[in-house]
Amino acid sequence: MKIFLDTASLEEIREGAELGVVDGVTTNPSLLAKEKGDPEDILLEICRTVDGPISAEVVATDAAGMLSEGRHWASLHKNIVVKCPCTADGLKATKLLAGEGIRVNMTLIFSPTQALLAAKAGARFASPFVGRLDDVATPGMELVRDILEIFRNYGYPCEVLAASLRHPMHVVEAAKAGAHIGTLPMAVFRQLLKHPLTDIGLKRFLDDWEKAKKEMGQRTSR
Ligand code: G3P
Repeated sequence: MKIFLDTASLEEIREGAELGVVDGVTTNPSLLAKEKGDPEDILLEICRTVDGPISAEVVATDAAGMLSEGRHWASLHKNIVVKCPCTADGLKATKLLAGEGIRVNMTLIFSPTQALLAAKAGARFASPFVGRLDDVATPGMELVRDILEIFRNYGYPCEVLAASLRHPMHVVEAAKAGAHIGTLPMAVFRQLLKHPLTDIGLKRFLDDWEKAKKEMGQRTSR
């Protein structure tokens, strides 16, 4: 599964990128609004930091507006993927952008039928929001599984980008389901690596090594 970071924070993206396992970044207007600075500059710096798909979302709600914003985002850098919401206008804009060879990530997907339409419109990525469905007592991961099954049935090249992942078990379940991508907030990404037994085990190895070195030193100085 490819791992994307779901953040517009350059500090977090640099921290993640240094580990060498980050394949892309997803941003949205809420995430960009939290950062200081011009969104365009931030997106460009993200593109320079992570050489993979970087989602930049349109804020227009009509197809013509989405098309012109999408063209603009895509012209900034080869890594930019245009994020369009899964609405009627979003679908129209996706079809047109895809026709121009611009990659689209169709976002705010909450049903298998929305995902089917996204794939038919030529979206390169479909983003079901797992956590937000869980929030309303609807199992979000089932949506991921349904979409994967539908895409497999027809060989759609659209990748399932599991979004709104809130904790490591969401990541495990998305990977078990076969989601192509999981996008994670930095806090969740950090949690993926942590295990107390790793820390305890490493400390024991190093302590034993130090002890053995000391004993060896004592033997040779006798
Ligand atoms: O990628 C979509 C994500 O930003 C939404 O996450 O936690 O706000 O539902 P959340």
